[in-house]
Amino acid sequence: MVERVLILIKLLIPLESATGETRVAATPETIKKFVSLGCDISIEQNAGIRAGFSNEAYRSAGAEIVEQGDVTSWNKADLLICVQAPPPESLSRLKSGAVLMGLLSPYRNKALASSIHSRKLSSIALELLPRISRAQSADALSSQANIAGYKAVLVAAAALDRYFPMLMTAAGTVQPARVVVLGAGVAGLQAVATAKRLGAVVYVSDIRPAVKEQVESLGARFIDPPEIEDKPAEQGGYAKQASEAFLAAQRNQLAEQLSEADVAICTAQVPGKKAPRLISEWMLDGMRPGSVVVDLAVAQGGNCAETQPGKTVNRKGVQLIGASDLPCTVPNHASALYSKNLVALIEPFIKNDQLELNTDDELIAGCLISQNGEILSEDLNNTGDVN
Ligand code: NAI
Repeated sequence: MVERVLILIKLLIPLESATGETRVAATPETIKKFVSLGCDISIEQNAGIRAGFSNEAYRSAGAEIVEQGDVTSWNKADLLICVQAPPPESLSRLKSGAVLMGLLSPYRNKALASSIHSRKLSSIALELLPRISRAQSADALSSQANIAGYKAVLVAAAALDRYFPMLMTAAGTVQPARVVVLGAGVAGLQAVATAKRLGAVVYVSDIRPAVKEQVESLGARFIDPPEIEDKPAEQGGYAKQASEAFLAAQRNQLAEQLSEADVAICTAQVPGKKAPRLISEWMLDGMRPGSVVVDLAVAQGGNCAETQPGKTVNRKGVQLIGASDLPCTVPNHASALYSKNLVALIEPFIKNDQLELNTDDELIAGCLISQNGEILSEDLNNTGDVN
């Protein structure tokens, strides 16, 4: 059955209110695009300031600047595009039937489910966009993970007590840094490429066999997964959760690599699950004082023991960096790419000045988590092991 939501497009872009969030869901460039698509746009004052986009630039592009929390703008909005979901008190100002679109953290998010249900909202969570070719230009997880992978290496290089590249100097030859990247998805592969550009020798662990070729094509060395019967499966390009026996074998294998490493970049994740624990305390004990661990999975429980979100912990000389929000440290490009992802997703569904959320379309079906308040995604209500 084809179900359609027909709405007139009054678009609202809020000033992001989550702590540490510096990105914005629209840039002056994408505002112009939305104007050309027939949208009437309001953007909250200073929404783009932290990302380098002035109120004046938005006004010139065709948006109206409104006060933060302006009740009229929230009441009349048909479509709200955001980076992170606004808090419940803000969502309560939206009218019934409005569409909410962003990185909504859909997994086990009961507070969001409750707001969506009580306000009868339709909502699109970009995290659940299918990873198919047609969706690539709208793939916000990838655009942001790319930034995280790149910045993780820069953060590590800045914290490391050594050079990254091999150098021949009058005072002697400096050996290149040894970097171990755990997880070779989008962030991991960008970390590999960035570390290679800085001249490091890079080793990579992943449990998906398809990754080996990609890793080697970037000039890094692949650490084959442990040969035990209980191998984790793969689904839709994503790794499935590994058993504790497999992870124990993997940790034993990685301990030796880490004892010789200068840097570990942790990016291993399984969508909607707790991140696999790949570095335990006893493995940290074997690492060289002065070495650095950057854990991008810290918000999902961490690949590394003792990392804490947003904090750097000095553990017996090893720096443990809990890097939960690296895209927010590159807010201009992170916003530019993210806002283009939003346009790419929504543009094909704007026709005759109306937004048609065609649930027969694979992209919309994948990431539409609620329709007029009815919860469509099991992810929202599931109870699981994250956090
Ligand atoms: P992710 O962030 O969910 O996971 C990162 C990596 O961790 C994955 O490569 C995963 O295999 C690995 N991992 C999980 N458990 C591990 C363990 N115990 N040890 C070592 N590594 C472990 O993945 P991401 O970056 O979101 O990409 C997932 C997949 O989606 C990849 O196959 C990627 O190529 C694919 N993809 C496809 C796109 C498209 O066709 N439009 C766009 C982007 C990604």
